Amino acid sequence: MTKSYKRTTVTAALPYANGPLHIGHIAGAYLPSDTYVRYLRLKGEDVVFICGSDEHGVAINLGAKKEGVSPKQFVDKYHALMKKAFSDFGISFDIYSRTSNPVHYKTAQEFFTTIYQKGIFLEEVSDQYFDEQEGIFLADRYITGTCPNCKHPNAYGDQCEKCGSSLNPRQLINPRSTISGNPPVLKPTKHWYFPLDNYENWLKEWLIEGHKTDWTTNVYGQCRSWIDRGLQPRSITRDMDWGIPVPLPDAKGKVLYVWFDAPIGYISATKELKGTDWEKYWKDPETRLIHFIGKDNIVFHCIIFPCMLRAEGSFIVPDNVPANEFLNLEGEKISTSRNHAVWLHEYLEEFPGRRDELRYVLTSISPETKDADFTWKDYQQRVNSELVAILGNFVNRVMVLTWKYFDGVVPSDKEIPGTTPVRKKILDAYRQAHTELNQSVKEMIRGLEEFRFREAQFHLMNIARTGNKFLAETEPWKLANEDKDAVGAILNYALTVVGNLGVACQPFLPDTAHNILRQLNGVDLVNNWNDLWKKGGLVNTVTMGHKIDKPALLFRNIEDTEIERQIEKLKKPKSAMTESAGIKPLKPEITIDDFAKLDIRIGKVLAAERVEKSDKLLKLIIDTGIDQRTVLSGISKHYSPEDMLGKQVTLIANLAPRKMMGMQSQGMVLMAEDSDGKLKLLQPDADVAPGSTVS
Ligand code: 2FM
Ligand code: ZN
Repeated sequence: MTKSYKRTTVTAALPYANGPLHIGHIAGAYLPSDTYVRYLRLKGEDVVFICGSDEHGVAINLGAKKEGVSPKQFVDKYHALMKKAFSDFGISFDIYSRTSNPVHYKTAQEFFTTIYQKGIFLEEVSDQYFDEQEGIFLADRYITGTCPNCKHPNAYGDQCEKCGSSLNPRQLINPRSTISGNPPVLKPTKHWYFPLDNYENWLKEWLIEGHKTDWTTNVYGQCRSWIDRGLQPRSITRDMDWGIPVPLPDAKGKVLYVWFDAPIGYISATKELKGTDWEKYWKDPETRLIHFIGKDNIVFHCIIFPCMLRAEGSFIVPDNVPANEFLNLEGEKISTSRNHAVWLHEYLEEFPGRRDELRYVLTSISPETKDADFTWKDYQQRVNSELVAILGNFVNRVMVLTWKYFDGVVPSDKEIPGTTPVRKKILDAYRQAHTELNQSVKEMIRGLEEFRFREAQFHLMNIARTGNKFLAETEPWKLANEDKDAVGAILNYALTVVGNLGVACQPFLPDTAHNILRQLNGVDLVNNWNDLWKKGGLVNTVTMGHKIDKPALLFRNIEDTEIERQIEKLKKPKSAMTESAGIKPLKPEITIDDFAKLDIRIGKVLAAERVEKSDKLLKLIIDTGIDQRTVLSGISKHYSPEDMLGKQVTLIANLAPRKMMGMQSQGMVLMAEDSDGKLKLLQPDADVAPGSTVS
């Protein structure tokens, strides 16, 4: 259903703040939405582009536990990392917010309350697994046990990763809490449920009938099969301490389920961006709401969130939900834990000034209808033989020829009369090119309108292809002596094509657009785009007598060595997630016997002094309970000798003696080192006698 509208609210799925962004994220939702929004802005539309970090849920809790930090510290770190990577890559969100913001807490709670007060939610007490030692109810992911189907001993409460079957925790054999390791007990707890089943009729009318033709087949098909299977009430609250508290007096210790609060995050972020003006972007029927997402989010955005919006009663529902399939890497699934990924922040560091190259390749292979595969060889090939050889080459040839024959001044735009065979050939080539170019512009715009960006970009490149063909057919370099007016006519038209290319590049390749337009020395982007769009064909971009800038290459070839380095890097597994955050990856597993070999004990520092000629070492005399010994410790940048005097320290007492700076060190003082390299002593939390052992 297409409707006339006054403005558009575009959202891109809020990524979990639990790790850095990789190219799969970008190709999935962020690049298509950015391309679309840039297109709408060029048309002069009123549009808001909303995104932010999704900071609640079990994934965040688990991640924080793994890194040994609080959930807030955890999301603070990844939110900052993701926000920076998006901005460095040039994704042009109007706001990149986060769901831990107070405005979001308030918005989500009010949303819940409105629906609650209408008496829509169901309340139900049921038995859930509880960890008695930790005093908490366990989310499905926090319970492991033996899979009832394949007997895998470490299946999760929601899924067995070995045989892929989806489970509920009660099906696990010998369930254990992943937090304490103890068997959990069943305990009754109350939760609130959203009665999705009550919305089946509305969904059939609004979605199944209403969006049969304008939603993509993958999205529509998935929704249809969900609805056909019948919908059930979904619990929208959880027993957890990290999240948005359920705003009811009898809901202590309960928070909103992350998938209840996250999509409301789009609304909160719009409030943050627009202040009191926010409502028209969410409540005016003349606003179009468009959610860009990955395919794993379809049910939440097409069924659950629209039902929530409808239940609340004052909101519009989405007009379209473009959802991409997945992007693989070198033939395998992208995997964060195995570090099989191309991390956005690393790409930006390792390929500086080459944002458009990645945009181009990701749009060229965009997984719009089926999963796609990114390979470094393909990346190299597309950059070298398409961006360099077609687009860059065309623009550069035209600019260089204009300088060569007209000293950088745009020649006359008068059509030359077809009085000679050569001129006839030129006119034919021009007419043919013009028809093709107008067609390409039309197709490109159709692709943009219909969320088929891959195709749209192909038509953009056809503008350059046609431009190259026009030059090859007219061969202006052969006519310089014979017919200078003809050379002028050819180049005037070729420059017009370059200008149009620059204008048309803007949604797809913004840096390139900027470069082309700069080299042309001033072209009115917005007006030209508007003409381009309205006419659906070539517009005048350059005028006779205008002086252009010196040509500069738009792209350069990607060398084999650059690609080989990337392929090599993928072969070395490491935890990029932790490394990028400055956290060292886990060392290989050891046995308890390995651990038992260490003699760790508490000592007391009796004397401390700096070691001459060393800016790192302190010489400590330590009472170990057994002896008094010298230990050299590399802590002098963090502790002065005075700081250390009388301190309790934790010591590896049976480490083989080592010689440093001519002195023997007998043991090692244990320190905690944070990601900035700051050192802190490890100490017992109360005084203990020297010689106490650590186990
Ligand atoms: O799948 C995800 O990464 C979710 N964090 C997406 C949430 S989208 C929206 F609802 F906020
Ligand atoms: Zn299994």
